[in-house]
Amino acid sequence: MVLRSPWKTAKLELEELKRSLPPSGAEQALWKKSALDPVAWVLDNKLLPALDPWQISALRSQAHQAIWLINRQAGKSTIAALIALHRAIYKPGLILMVSRSIRQSGELFKKFESAYSKLEDPPGMTKSTELSCELANGSRVVSLPDSEGTVRGFSSVDLLIEDESSRVSDDLYFAIRPMLAISQGQLLLLGTPAGRRGHFYETWISDSPGWEKVLITADDCPRISKNFLNQERLSMPESVFLTEYFCQFQDNLDQIFSSDLVDSLFNDQIEPLFPQRETLKVLTISDSLINPNLKTLAEEAEDGL
Ligand SMILES: Nc1ncnc2c1ncn2[C@@H]1O[C@H](COP(=O)(O)OP(=O)(O)OP(=O)(O)O)[C@@H](O)[C@H]1O
Ligand SMILES: [Mg+2]
Repeated sequence: MVLRSPWKTAKLELEELKRSLPPSGAEQALWKKSALDPVAWVLDNKLLPALDPWQISALRSQAHQAIWLINRQAGKSTIAALIALHRAIYKPGLILMVSRSIRQSGELFKKFESAYSKLEDPPGMTKSTELSCELANGSRVVSLPDSEGTVRGFSSVDLLIEDESSRVSDDLYFAIRPMLAISQGQLLLLGTPAGRRGHFYETWISDSPGWEKVLITADDCPRISKNFLNQERLSMPESVFLTEYFCQFQDNLDQIFSSDLVDSLFNDQIEPLFPQRETLKVLTISDSLINPNLKTLAEEAEDGL
């Protein structure tokens, strides 16, 4: 926690007093424009030099629940931090940002703070720690690592952002969702795939209504060149390349059979390789020990030769 000197506190209070006075017509118009349009706010304050089309839509989105499946280095965390900052300034409330590790929570909060420091006349910070702050307008922003212990206890969250969502545990996700219940808060999941499992994958493939889904791949990103992508493709396994840059959910490394193979077992459109025999049964070794008259599949096959 940053301790402030009495002089600094008095200065802050004075600033807040000035802020509470009715602004002039021009100031009021600018405030309204920035409040109503986060895109204009980002560009007017030079928080980024320009915005990609998906970044414009994401900043303006009013979706109650959104999931962004986006390639590495596209600007996901940057835009999430800007959304958090815009909300904290213009729609005061509690904003929680969750990441998979303490290092990532710190990185995300730095993005938030760095944008805040570029603003000309933001609401003062009345409290700040390495991973949280409070603004004079009553907003509170907290960046937390994936640990159920640290997250429990918050309630009435107005905006919940889960960065690198595919790598945040399901336990944490299910622990934080109820915090939106009372406040009817907004939920934003963002990430790059990490295997075909977990709440990020399940949410992406599910048909359940009420989710805004955004898919962006590296060829949509003006800051990632074709040359760079070609080099990356040569320097890593194809499955990793497709995951990181083209957002493909690949099988998990610890999976013995591929998902396609398992799915095909339940697909009666696929012709069996061998004709099916009525008598063919799959017996476990223990079945055949209990009843020596039963034969295992291997023995049946041998008999058939
Ligand atoms: N519109 C933009 N214009 C210029 N630079 C941008 C823009 N959007 C993002 N960046 C820059 O791109 C870099 C990557 O951004 P960021 O870390 O937010 O990406 P990410 O998608 O979260 O990456 P990762 O998948 O590695 O977490 C940062 O240096 C950020 O400042
Ligand atoms: Mg990121």
